[in-house]
Amino acid sequence: MLARLRLACAALVLLFVTGPVPAQQLAPREGVTVSIACGALGIELELCREAAQEWARKTGNSVEIVNTPNSSSDRFSLYLQLLSSRSAEIDVLQIDVVWAAMLAPHLADLEGPLGERVDRMFPALARNDRIGGRLVAVPWYIDAGVLYYRQDLLDKYGFAPPETWGQLTRTAAAIQQAERVAGNQRMWGYVFQAKAYEGLTCNALEWVSSYGGGTFLDGSRNFTADNPAARAALAQAGSWVGSIAPRGVLNYDEEAARGVFQTGNAVFMRNWPYAWALAQGEGSPIRGKVGVVALPHGPGGESAAALGGWHLAVSRYSRNRAEAIDLVAHLIRAEEQKRRAIKGAYNPTYPALYEDPEIIAANPFFATLYPAFENAVARPARQAGPRYNQVSDAIWRATHGILRGDDTPASAMDRLDDEIARIAYRARWKEDARSE
Ligand code: GLC
Repeated sequence: MLARLRLACAALVLLFVTGPVPAQQLAPREGVTVSIACGALGIELELCREAAQEWARKTGNSVEIVNTPNSSSDRFSLYLQLLSSRSAEIDVLQIDVVWAAMLAPHLADLEGPLGERVDRMFPALARNDRIGGRLVAVPWYIDAGVLYYRQDLLDKYGFAPPETWGQLTRTAAAIQQAERVAGNQRMWGYVFQAKAYEGLTCNALEWVSSYGGGTFLDGSRNFTADNPAARAALAQAGSWVGSIAPRGVLNYDEEAARGVFQTGNAVFMRNWPYAWALAQGEGSPIRGKVGVVALPHGPGGESAAALGGWHLAVSRYSRNRAEAIDLVAHLIRAEEQKRRAIKGAYNPTYPALYEDPEIIAANPFFATLYPAFENAVARPARQAGPRYNQVSDAIWRATHGILRGDDTPASAMDRLDDEIARIAYRARWKEDARSE
């Protein structure tokens, strides 16, 4: 008994002297099963499985792919539930760019093994994942909202791709009307993501920001969307529901919007780049008939694409940390990002890959929209930190009320201001801001 106690004390002393063994010093083993939660939209799951299995074959390990829900909000709840109970069930997690600060306490520090690679990626992404001096995730692909249009329909009726939301509204209405008269009763002008979830926060940010109405929270965490430009942007979006967009849009996420567009029943669609590979895929009814441009802007504003994307993180509770990190290292290689860009239109996180001729040939808009990707507008995740989900939830609920026609932009923004003030009060933001 005493001997065992002595041994335990010695181990403890050793731990204090040397500190916990840094992850990068642990060599990956063989014969381990690493679980990874990855993929949801488009062909993500398939691409992830292929690459993870390739790693497993090379290293003599196995991988288990954990299925996760399509909606990023649902995925977040699932992760939070697992991580809060310190579950070791998932070793590698694909996390949304806006979750880094919220999940940071549950994620392993990847600075040692992967910091240098992250420094070769877009600086804004690298900054996003360094929280409190730790690298909590590694950028895997970037998303930015873009506008898809039906080139064939625009040509048929003599329209150019819209540059302003006003032009989009008029073009969508005219073509919708003409196509219905011509016999397609199911044609709609514009589809986007208006379900009450994270995707609506992205759409709302793009509308408001492209009208010059700010990004909901400024750098000092003040609410900024109670202004005429933001109200005008939201009023215009509200006017689409039931006119150029079906009322069902109130329940559309990315895949629902793509379903309507890809079956040929919408003139315009707001979505992320992944929809390109599928629209152009074999058997797609709209193959060869689609174009992609930057999202329109409001009067006096500039086009704004919400910055999205997914990163890879290792759970702090993983019992296979070294192997999990090795798998992440395999997945984020430039070569693998190139494969994903060509097959699935997932935007690489290394700027150098935007000059790769094969990637550009598969996705010509990666070149033309490069500035939109580089200058994509971030959601207020950094400002809101661990409270981002509450802030975003408040934004999408307020916006959904306007789109449903249950609220006016003025009263919705007024209430959102109060709600964010309550979140800020609970989080003691103002005091933090003074001491920062
Ligand atoms: C995409 C984006 C992600 C965003 C989500 C919203 O998956 O990459 O950042 O949160 O859409 O639905």
